[in-house]
Order: sequence, then structure tokens, then C-alpha cells
Amino acid sequence: VPVQPPHRFKDIAPSVGALQRSSSTPLFEQLASRIEALIQAGTLSVGEQAPSVRRAQKQFGVSAATVIEAYRLLEARGVIRARPQSGYFVRQSPVSERRVPAMTAPALRSVSLEPPEPMLVRLKAAVPDESLLPTTQLGRLLGKVYRDHPEALSTYGPTAGCTELRREIARRMIDAGCVVSPDDIVVTNGTTEAVYLALQILTGPGDTVAVESPTYHGLLDTLRARGLKVLPLASCTVNGVCVDAIEEAIRSRRFAAMVLIPNFSNPLGGVLPDERKRWLVELAAANEIPVIEDDIYGELGFEGPRPRALRSYDDGGWVVYCSSFSKVLSPGIRIGWCVPGRHMDAYRRIKHDLNISAPMGPQLAVAEFLSGGGYDKHLRQLRRFYQTQTARFSDRILATFPEGTSTSQPRGGHVIWVEMPVGVDSVALLEVCQRRGITFAPGPLFAPGDAYRNFLRLNCAVAWSEELSDAIATIGRLAKEQLHAAQAGPDGRARPKRSMAL
Ligand SMILES: Cc1ncc(COP(=O)(O)O)c(C=O)c1O
Repeated sequence: VPVQPPHRFKDIAPSVGALQRSSSTPLFEQLASRIEALIQAGTLSVGEQAPSVRRAQKQFGVSAATVIEAYRLLEARGVIRARPQSGYFVRQSPVSERRVPAMTAPALRSVSLEPPEPMLVRLKAAVPDESLLPTTQLGRLLGKVYRDHPEALSTYGPTAGCTELRREIARRMIDAGCVVSPDDIVVTNGTTEAVYLALQILTGPGDTVAVESPTYHGLLDTLRARGLKVLPLASCTVNGVCVDAIEEAIRSRRFAAMVLIPNFSNPLGGVLPDERKRWLVELAAANEIPVIEDDIYGELGFEGPRPRALRSYDDGGWVVYCSSFSKVLSPGIRIGWCVPGRHMDAYRRIKHDLNISAPMGPQLAVAEFLSGGGYDKHLRQLRRFYQTQTARFSDRILATFPEGTSTSQPRGGHVIWVEMPVGVDSVALLEVCQRRGITFAPGPLFAPGDAYRNFLRLNCAVAWSEELSDAIATIGRLAKEQLHAAQAGPDGRARPKRSMAL
């Protein structure tokens, strides 16, 4: 068995700083203390070889004699030990010498020892539960891809993405009414990057971007990060963004681009009807206003044909289409794409400047999954599951939340939007729920400012269980308690109804 070379000290001088030549403590003692401190901090561990005299000389800026004297001192203290012909090594201190935590003085008053609850029921992020995703298959495919295509690791892929995947995506986009070729597509790191790059091309700092209100909070983060202003467009849980709001915004011409989620929007779940999609695209083209379409939930309709994309009505290239496999296959694999229309050249350039290309291994694995034929079956199961779950969530919410609560009735996707009576504060509610191990997304996350205080969004892409059912009821009970407290005056008596509305 070959003898393992002893661990060697790394370069340590930068973290220990210079020794004080003007100090009354001799240099060798200072050096010994530094090394001892490094051992105690775990930077240098038991069994490791101390730096050679020459190396320590360089690292600490001292003479060989000083190092030797410091090592002798450390040896005398039992901190290091010399091994003939090998150098000095950090010694295992005898158990009796090892530092143990000092006994704590008991507190005089009694305190609750309740530990913070781990999060038990996470309904905040719009991420499907692992059990719903084909993670095992994807893992297997990734392994196969890296075995069969070592070049996926040893080279950069093409900036637009691998051809096999773009072909599969172009085929799937036919269902959304889009006739695109693989050359019209750029593969990205998720929808997030697809939208980000589109915004980088279409907007400048200080520009305004029109979005549905409420909208996906990650989009608001992106807009904020790019120094953009937000023009909220009124929207509803059935038909998505409101026609009047768009007309008025276009008339005022106060914005550089729109970012819309026309199919099963997040958080509302609305779908812009086909005739309105056509109207919107024609209006945008006539006014030369680019529309960034986020169609991440487009394939997740519960019944009927897949709704068309805005892009399917676009002849002039004004719609920049963005989507990903995060909601159907895996959020972690980070495969999304963009059809940048008339901005293709700029888009490819900017993608290259940012990170050259999306990683090849995940692209090839997703391409294989799509071409293997299991995708549609998986999608059918997911749609059925989400349909059942959103209905179950809605029923449980309506049965346990304060009177007057209503929920969206989504026809696709996997989130549910909940309106509670005015007086419930979802931000404060989240705080008390978190202490019980339950999370959700509070309403104000979904719009700039402080709108939607009495709203919240729940992710329904989780398996149903008694624990989940109880968690929903707990949110409802705590909302009721909050509402009663808000309605009660400082003396605990109910306030007149009018002041409640103020
Ligand atoms: C509407 C919407 N767009 C984009 C994203 C993020 O997508 P990706 O993982 O593809 O970056 C989400 C995730 O929740 C979303 O709901």
C-alpha cells in the first residue's frame, strides 16, 4: 500500500498578517503564538506537516533562526513534534489537554426550550414537488449523455444551443400554434435568463415596462435589478390582462416593452382568450411595441387543446417568446429557450457575451427525454394531478379561511391566488405561520409597493396529505384570529364596521 504523503500546510501568511518587530514580545514567541492560533482555529489540523523552515521564513518574513526557535518552543509546549528527516508535525493533544466547552451558568429565569420549527409544509415557491418530476430518468439520461458525449464536458457548445434540443422545442411549439425553425431558437438558462436577455436588448435604464398586476415576483426582481420602472396592468383570474388597461397604456405610450404571461399566468392563473391575443399582437405591431411573452405554464392546461401563444399571431417579429422546462421536467436542470424574432442577432450576441452558451449535458439529456416519447405521458399525468390539487386546495381554503375569502379557479398551472377579507395582513400572517413550519407567498410580493396585502398565493404542486390539509386549515385559523384582532378595539371589543374598512 503506497504511503500517503503527509498533508502539507497551505500558504498561510496572508491570513496571519505581519509580526510586530517593535513589540516587546520576541519574534519567535509571536510566531509560535500565531501558529498555535492557526491550529486552534482548525486552519492547520492534527497530523499535518508544519511548513519547512525555508517556507515559514518566506511566509512570515523572519530568519531561519527565528523559525527554528519558534518550532522548538511549540515542541516544548507539546503542540508540534519533530520527526527525524521529515520535519515538524501538528500533534494530537492528549484528551486531558483538549479544550472543552466551559460549563454554562444556568439562567435564573426559566426559558422556553422550544426549538424553531423546521419548515414542514412549504407552499411558497411555485416549484413542483420532487415526487412529481422525472428526476430519476433525467439523472440516468445525464449520466448516459456524459458517457456517450465527453465533448459535452470538454468543449463549449454552440451559443444558440444544441441542434437536437432546438429541433424538439420547435416541434413542441407547433402545439402552441407557432411555426418556428430550430434556427429561430436560442437555448437559455431557464425562462429567467430568456426574459432577462430580452429586456437587456429592448430596454435601457429608467425605462418603463408594462406587466400584469399582480405578476410573477421573480419578474419584478429582474426589472428592479435592471433599473426599470413598472407599469401595472389590471388583470383578472379568468381572462388575464385587461383589454382596457392595455389600450390605455398604449395610448399613453409611456412604456418601452410589455412582459406578459398570457397562459395560466402566475399568480392569477388567467388565460388571455385567442381573439384578444390576436388583437394584442396586432396592436403591439402597429405601435411598434415589443412584447416579451413568458409561456412557462402554456403546456399545463387541465382540459382541451393547449392554448395558443401570442407568438403564433406574430408575423412581424414583435413578440419575443420565452419558456422553459422548469415546471414540467426540472427547475434545477435550467433549460429554457427564447424565440427572439427580429432581435435574433442581438440576442445571440448578448447570450454569447454573458455566458457563451447553456451547458451541453442538460440540453442533450432534455432532448433525449423529449424524443424518447415519455414527455407527453408525463405531461398528461401532471395536468390531471394539478387539476385535482388546485380544486382540493380551493375547497379546503374556502372551508377554513375567514368568511368572505375567495380563490382563483385556475384552468392550468399549479398555483392558486387567494383573496381574504380586508384586514388580514398576509405578510404578518406569514410570520406566524412560519413559526409553525408553514410557508406561502404573501400578496405584496406580486406587485410594486404595498398592494395585495390581504392576498396570498399557494403552490399546489405538492402531494395531498393530512399534514397539508391541516396546514391550510392552520393558515385559515390564524387569518381568522388576525382578522378578529384587527376588528377588535384596543379594549378587545369589536369596532364598528365602518372603521374596519378604513
Ligand atoms: C411565470 C414564471 N416565469 C418564470 C419563472 C422562472 O422560470 P425558470 O426556472 O425557467 O427560470 C417562474 C417560476 O416560478 C414563473 O412562475
